[in-house]
Amino acid sequence: MSEKKRFHIVTYGCQMNVHESEKIAGMLSELGYTNCDEMESADVVVFNTCCIRENAENHAFGNIGMLKKLKADKKDMIIAVGGCLTQQMGKAENLHDKFPYVDVIFGTHNLHKLKDYILLKRTQKKAVINIEDDDGSIFEGDNPLRTSYPNAWVNITYGCNNFCSYCIVPYVRGRERSRKAQNIIAEVEELVKQGYKEITLLGQNVNSYGNGTDEPSFPELLERIANIEGKFRLRFMTSHPKDFSEELAKVIARNSKICHCVHLPVQSGSNEILKAMNRKYTAEDYLEKIEILKKYVPDCTVTTDLIVGFPNETEEDFEATLNLVKKVGYSSAFTFVYSKRDGTVAAKMPNQIPEDISKRRIMKLVELVNSLTREQSASYVGKAVEILCEDYDKKKGMYCGRDEYGRMCYFESENNAIGEFVNLKITKANGISLYGERI
Ligand code: SAH
Ligand code: SF4
Ligand code: F3S
Repeated sequence: MSEKKRFHIVTYGCQMNVHESEKIAGMLSELGYTNCDEMESADVVVFNTCCIRENAENHAFGNIGMLKKLKADKKDMIIAVGGCLTQQMGKAENLHDKFPYVDVIFGTHNLHKLKDYILLKRTQKKAVINIEDDDGSIFEGDNPLRTSYPNAWVNITYGCNNFCSYCIVPYVRGRERSRKAQNIIAEVEELVKQGYKEITLLGQNVNSYGNGTDEPSFPELLERIANIEGKFRLRFMTSHPKDFSEELAKVIARNSKICHCVHLPVQSGSNEILKAMNRKYTAEDYLEKIEILKKYVPDCTVTTDLIVGFPNETEEDFEATLNLVKKVGYSSAFTFVYSKRDGTVAAKMPNQIPEDISKRRIMKLVELVNSLTREQSASYVGKAVEILCEDYDKKKGMYCGRDEYGRMCYFESENNAIGEFVNLKITKANGISLYGERI
């Protein structure tokens, strides 16, 4: 009997990519491959790349480069590279020139054809390179091999129309398009039936779901999903502040399945910089949205994304960001140093900020964000929380899960608690992590 063929996927980038790797895994399973943890024993290795910042891109290039030797020893191994990086102008050719041993290069628009490309590669010597343009269509009928039970990701929109001046996503993901509500609802119903307990709706800007189509608005869609029977949690990301509405805050307030935790990237607290970023809101507009959210959902926590070192960012601009962070009191934040992306509007702006200044700013910002997180963690001690157990941490020898506000809690359990809602009393706070006992 022949041994089962194996695949290994390396994923870079955001949740969108994590979920797309699940779709890739689904296709490879249909071809008869099974997942394996080490690249060395794989028959197919897929790199699902990201190019949001230069270091994400370099990381992928470095790792693909390291496979040269392995491929020389294992000539039958198929190496495939997909994701956002390949979709950048000229990058597919560039990859092929640099790494001629890569067998398949595919993009974000034709991900669902990877199965065909692998089959084709098995029959020909030549590399299969196919980066299709965005034709505005949506492929339905993926069969993802989900890897994060009890959490499941569900796409609601693809692409982005916002063209924030620093961002490469609209160029590599194409124009925004919304899946049909009936398809999304059917997918969530099926997931709940299968026992998934937390559903996260994914899109670059979920608030503009349905724009320009007959589909419902995002708040309507969210409410329809929240009305699906069964005990599960509902999250969504990412919300663009310019489209965050009062209606959405009301929907969150009146549907208990929707978590009281919203990711609302602000990027900067300076109006000058926000304008240059083409974000289409001011710091005041943003704070007003937070106020509306808190009016309807007083206990809602807010998380965000922040960029320092955008071209022309002055010390005052940076101070404005620090002030806004303090005002909002984020429960956590992703902080980034601005990275110049070729082809974007910001890449052509004068006064790119020197690295040492950006580094100093990011360190200060991280310190502030961490102090807010620590403060909030400390206030948890003694409280009771309901968490959804999602994993077992081998190092700690403890189970872990998040409360609805997104806070990670660790606890001991005799039985396997993954997938269970567990009530804990928080006994200790350590940085961002909380420790508790079952009650
Ligand atoms: N569509 C989402 C997420 C986009 S990517 C949104 O608009 O919020 C995630 C984050 O990466 C962004 O929010 C931004 O903070 C950061 N980012 C995007 N491009 C960047 C760049 N060129 N340099 C540094 N950070 C960047
Ligand atoms: Fe990028 Fe802006 Fe679109 Fe987010 S909304 S993906 S930051 S262009
Ligand atoms: Fe995500 Fe990176 Fe693409 S952040 S959308 S994988 S460029």
